[in-house]
Amino acid sequence: MDFDIKNPELAPGGRHRIEWAEQEMAVLRGVKEQFGTDRPFAGIRVSACMHVTTETANLMVSLQSGGADVMLCASNPLSTQDDVAASLVSHFEIPVFAIKGEDTETYHKHVKAVLDHKPHIIMDDGADLVSTLHTSRRELLPNLIGGTEETTTGLVRLRAMAADGALEFPMMAVNDAMTKHLFDNRYGTGQSTMDGVIRATNFLIAGRTVVVVGYGWCSRGIAMRAKGLGANVIVTEIDALKALEAVMDGFRVMPMMEAASQGDIFLSATGDIHVLDTHHFERMKDGVLLANSGHFDIEINKPGLRSLSIDDPKRVRPFVDQYTLKDGRKLNLLGEGRLVNLAAAEGHPAAVMDMSFAGQAMAAKYLLENKDTLENKVHTVPAEIDQAIASIKLESMGIGIDTLTEEQYKYLNSWQEGT
Ligand code: ADE
Repeated sequence: MDFDIKNPELAPGGRHRIEWAEQEMAVLRGVKEQFGTDRPFAGIRVSACMHVTTETANLMVSLQSGGADVMLCASNPLSTQDDVAASLVSHFEIPVFAIKGEDTETYHKHVKAVLDHKPHIIMDDGADLVSTLHTSRRELLPNLIGGTEETTTGLVRLRAMAADGALEFPMMAVNDAMTKHLFDNRYGTGQSTMDGVIRATNFLIAGRTVVVVGYGWCSRGIAMRAKGLGANVIVTEIDALKALEAVMDGFRVMPMMEAASQGDIFLSATGDIHVLDTHHFERMKDGVLLANSGHFDIEINKPGLRSLSIDDPKRVRPFVDQYTLKDGRKLNLLGEGRLVNLAAAEGHPAAVMDMSFAGQAMAAKYLLENKDTLENKVHTVPAEIDQAIASIKLESMGIGIDTLTEEQYKYLNSWQEGT
């Protein structure tokens, strides 16, 4: 079996951590059990490009239980958990191509390796498999039944492709499922981002001014958790509605040019380029932290930061690069501007990835079952899948809910009753 990982000897520790995560993933455990009985993926090759974490490992093993022939590469050069990669290879015979800290060339070599598997189904996190398939690996397109996409950023790319008529197989928008973005993007990113910042720096958050860039589902989770830790939170936005929500959620809202001189910690999760730029760095206080939780490392203008600095940055702690500006101020960039929650911490907790990855697994099965009718578009995950995931999750948490009485059902479905 071909693979490329850091060190196979890390496997025992990885296995323990995979099992630890599994205990928190009740919905995915149910899916895995059902897959084991039904074997819906028998004879199907699945290539995944996702963060190689304990949670992803449980997703891969669930697909394997369903009969899939699975291969995995990393969706970010810094997010791989090397012990997990080792365990997947050693204990589960799943080929993994991922090494934490791999350079860009190796990253692309790894993407190529999982595509050499000639997948029928792909699982993407950021659309790198889709874009590679549509550019340099077009000969593989005829094999493709379709794929699933995990992130907001990936879906932006896919929708642009679909609008151009360029998408050559159906993609399931897992990110847009309610049981994904309302929980993973908000509570997952909120907690894991603060976790990454704290692990990297051991900074006290209380009393600090935290500037959160954007107020989408990820950013609002970050703002909420920073506030909970005692920070004074400023939100910046380009969308009037979201800005208004942030105001009414109790946050100060202002343009970044104003926030730049007030913040102690800057956290971006927008999906857009250079939301923290040179004209902002020029105004920042000495000692600030800059971190990103958006998918790509383009949100903080790294070349711009380097151009303002007297020298290459100094690595002052793992995942903290200190840039010294010409006037002596020091700006600290965390995790090289890559996803700080996965680079400096372990990503979202398993209990929330449980819902996202049950959604991934069910969306892949849906693709297979509907392959003859799905158009080459971006498809939403059916509401029944969302409802099923939410119900099982609640049940696993020991929480019951009410059901409509017959009278209530009738009332909601009638138009005759009024004042
Ligand atoms: N994205 C964010 N957190 C993650 C995790 N724990 N596993 C996989 N992908 C993630």
